[in-house]
Amino acid sequence: MKKITQISIIGAGTMGNGIAHVFAQYGFKVALVDREEYSLSNAKKTIEKNLHRQAQKSLIETAHIPAILNQISTYTDLSEGLKNSDLVIEAISEDKEAKLHIFREIDRLSAPEIILASNTSSISISSLASQTSKPDRVIGMHFMNPVPLMTLVEVIRGANTSKECLEKIVQLTEQIGKEAVVAKDYPGFIANRILMPMINEAIETLFQGIGDVAGIDAIMKGGMRHPMGPLQLADFIGLDVCLSILNVMHEGFKNPKYAPSPLLVNLVTAGHLGIKSGRGFYDYSDAKNPTALQNF
Ligand code: NAI
Repeated sequence: MKKITQISIIGAGTMGNGIAHVFAQYGFKVALVDREEYSLSNAKKTIEKNLHRQAQKSLIETAHIPAILNQISTYTDLSEGLKNSDLVIEAISEDKEAKLHIFREIDRLSAPEIILASNTSSISISSLASQTSKPDRVIGMHFMNPVPLMTLVEVIRGANTSKECLEKIVQLTEQIGKEAVVAKDYPGFIANRILMPMINEAIETLFQGIGDVAGIDAIMKGGMRHPMGPLQLADFIGLDVCLSILNVMHEGFKNPKYAPSPLLVNLVTAGHLGIKSGRGFYDYSDAKNPTALQNF
């Protein structure tokens, strides 16, 4: 298989900008693609801010920041962004139809020997692979948020992913300083299979009035040594992303235990998506001092 030197990342939101940051930091050429120009300009600002944070913590040299930023080019045109790429990592919204469509497009527009990875949290890798002419080279590469800080990548082997492709992606993950854990291709894989039922249960506990936002999060932080409470974490991930993942697991397993809490559905319908919309279980008007909301 061809050596990976150039990587296209499709979707420049929360995850896409973090993935671009890490690959550029490790010397890869990165093409960051988004259909929205503002997402690309926000992503570049976020990457620069986060690189300076790393420099303040002496994790990288300030003098290297311009060269790292130079490794990243941005595109709104998919075919331009795929030119000369050895690997594509898709990180668009967690919407199955949208992902199936973009996999068809990527397959049509990219070089035949390319590897196609998805950062999906829950959607079947085999179903994405079925949209392409190279299912042996389609794989899941599920980064954790925030990507520059988190040291783990869940690597998902689809039904047709080849051993060579799996080995290449595990090796690449290690090359960027992260640990790879391989999971089979079932809804939610390992990470969200365990995490999302906990978050959903925390939301149900709030919905039933058993505790309030601050109390539920305090119990899991102080009582279970979790670094973040589950409601705070849900706001951080994005309530729309949590709802999409639960829906995929609910439909995939046909098991009512994964049914999303009506409160989660209501909040997403109302546009309260967590940090990214300024409100979820907390109010982020003062970004440094989020306040736990009442009256759910
Ligand atoms: P996001 O909503 O922050 O960003 C998605 C980006 O994709 C947006 O900038 C949007 O403009 C762009 N986009 C949507 N459709 C597009 C298309 N057809 N072509 C080009 N760009 C398009 O989403 P986020 O949170 O970054 O999630 C992306 C993926 O990563 C999802 O599959 C999600 O499940 C997964 N993920 C999310 C995590 C999180 O904590 N938010 C953690 C791990 C995985």
